[in-house]
Amino acid sequence: MTTRRLVLGRSAAVVGAASTGLLLPEILRAQSNKVRVGLMLPYTGTFASLGTNIDNAFRMAIDQQGGKLGGRDVEFFKVDDESDPPKGVENANKLVQRDKVDVLIGTVHSGVQMGIHRVARESGVLSIIPNAGVHAATRAQCAPNVFRTSFTNSQPTLALGKPMMDKGHKKAVWITWKYAAGDEAFEGFKDGYTKAGGTIVKELGLPFPNVEFQALLTEIATLKPDAVACFFAGAGAAKFIRDYAAAGLKDKIPLYGSGFLTEGVLQAAGPAADGIMTTLHYSDSLDTPRNKAFRTAFATTYRAQPDVYAVQGFDSGLLLIAGMNAVKGDMSNKAALHKAMEGATIDSPRGKWTMSKAHNPIQDIYLRKVADRENKVVGIAAKQLADSGAGCRMG
Ligand code: PHB
Repeated sequence: MTTRRLVLGRSAAVVGAASTGLLLPEILRAQSNKVRVGLMLPYTGTFASLGTNIDNAFRMAIDQQGGKLGGRDVEFFKVDDESDPPKGVENANKLVQRDKVDVLIGTVHSGVQMGIHRVARESGVLSIIPNAGVHAATRAQCAPNVFRTSFTNSQPTLALGKPMMDKGHKKAVWITWKYAAGDEAFEGFKDGYTKAGGTIVKELGLPFPNVEFQALLTEIATLKPDAVACFFAGAGAAKFIRDYAAAGLKDKIPLYGSGFLTEGVLQAAGPAADGIMTTLHYSDSLDTPRNKAFRTAFATTYRAQPDVYAVQGFDSGLLLIAGMNAVKGDMSNKAALHKAMEGATIDSPRGKWTMSKAHNPIQDIYLRKVADRENKVVGIAAKQLADSGAGCRMG
């Protein structure tokens, strides 16, 4: 009986579809009226835990609002992007063309992000970047439908050079994975460190996601700089920290980094991480009610410690909620949706932040030091730091 009614209902819809020019799947979708949210994140590989934390905290933000967006129920679609840039466009299209998502949340890796970005710009689908810091997305290729809740790659490292110089480290070696995130993190580091009077004696790199650090660590030992600064993240960062200590460098040449180095890896890295100083827009130890409530809720829900990635996922949820509430769930009202998201103040665990004109957070950057498997705040390295947004013209 149920089946028959469904069949009859569908054939009626087909007749209707023929007269309106709509296809059956589109009608059924419109009838369901759920907001279709696509999550394109790394669920495997060196960034797997980053993707998982973003996904979990994003859902937590929506759950805390009764599980709805602008009064509508939500349906999730997931794709594992494997942090594999050549598959970026195809994977984004699985969500946009096949699953017809209304909004795309993703991703972590800057190279994959450029694939998502192309699809977002061509399709006009709402895109929220919960991590990848690639400059182009909120500089020369900025777009009205693309918002970032994380950082630009040079934002965290711009503020790193000054504290290093304050400690008297006048000559540094830089080491990273050679791809957009590492190269752009270097731009920020170079700018801040050289302005503070430092000299970069050597730039070292290896392809993403390689973790064969040994030859490079031997080179660092030979170069004997005053300090080393780096960009690594995820499982690769944990290994770099351990290898740096195992090579006997930890107590000889202080290690600094873009703060991702010590995010989500402190259990895996153990005592090898003690004393590492980094700059980032978040710290576990921020002593605010907002941060504490977030950390407790995340830890109880997911039995895992939150990190900066969880915060960015959570904030992506908050941003989407702000936009969807403003238009009462009507995503066809794009101008109003985008305006509300542009104007939102996000009450984040990292501290309140607002969007720059190019759709990237204006935020404080904290100086942190690892002690007792925690990133402790030592001070504020940069206040209300905005990315330049160079070349951004909102079309
Ligand atoms: C990036 O590829 O943009 C990226 C990846 C991991 C991070 C930060 C940036 O922790």
